[in-house]
Amino acid sequence: MARREEQKKILCVGLVCLDIISVVEEFPREDSDSRCLSQRWQRGGNASNSCTVLSLLGSPCAFMGSLCAGPVASFIADDFSRRSIDISAVAWQPTGLTPSACCVVCTSSASRTVLLADTNIAEVTSEDFDAVDLSAFKWIHWEGRNADEQVKMMARVERHNQTVAPEQRIVVSVEIEKPREELYRLFPCADVVFASKDVARHLGFGTPADALRGLRPRLRPGAVLICAWAEQGADAADGDGTPLHSDAFPPERLLDTLGAGDTFNAAVIHRLAGGAPLREALTFGCKVAGAKCGFHGYDDIARAALD
Ligand code: FRU
Repeated sequence: MARREEQKKILCVGLVCLDIISVVEEFPREDSDSRCLSQRWQRGGNASNSCTVLSLLGSPCAFMGSLCAGPVASFIADDFSRRSIDISAVAWQPTGLTPSACCVVCTSSASRTVLLADTNIAEVTSEDFDAVDLSAFKWIHWEGRNADEQVKMMARVERHNQTVAPEQRIVVSVEIEKPREELYRLFPCADVVFASKDVARHLGFGTPADALRGLRPRLRPGAVLICAWAEQGADAADGDGTPLHSDAFPPERLLDTLGAGDTFNAAVIHRLAGGAPLREALTFGCKVAGAKCGFHGYDDIARAALD
């Protein structure tokens, strides 16, 4: 029997890494040796962070990405479990290094500087994805990374969707964050596309309105396009191209912007997957992402969503 739609999960496919986060008042001078305000280990990576936020907002979710057994992967797996995120689809790689990042969160400038090491482990392949039972999911979100393989994974979902009743179709979303040509192949593969300000700019669009108009021909007909623009909020266009805008909701004091984009994506997906109209989902995304910048990490997300 088909699984009831509301019990189905949201799957996020992409990076998980260990973030070693140093919080500083002033960004350190090169070749200096100083104390930070605080330091912590945190599970990171866009798709992994989005899972954290989805789970805290109350959407059952699962993560798919690469890990290699060892102390770092154990820390990560424990943290997924603490947040009730299903990792049965994780691609456990026999060799390699679980990705990690040094992150400097600077409270005076509200910057977050990331140095990522993620090239010593194999990426999730379409073969790995073939083993995933699609009937468990109502929505699958990809963080654009190894586009060649990801296009094949999305094509599998497309084929699956053609064999099921309309209400059982899986919604596909993709985040195109890095301004890299190969990722632009992903534009026509999803029902909901999150394109970053960097990507829009790289493709020659200087404002959110220009981006919505200019990127539309790259999408599949009827797809939703969402473009967050930092302190200017976010813009979106529905399937028919009608433009929408939400202002940003900055907190009183910007403390930690690491993962704000991942929070925005998750909050928008949470609402859209729950059946909310795009306008409402966009505003909710801006509110939750804005509030997230006012505290460290993600623990206060649920409270932020209620305010
Ligand atoms: C935040 C983040 C961090 C990670 C980095 C990887 O968006 O996912 O958790 O270190 O970006 O690019």
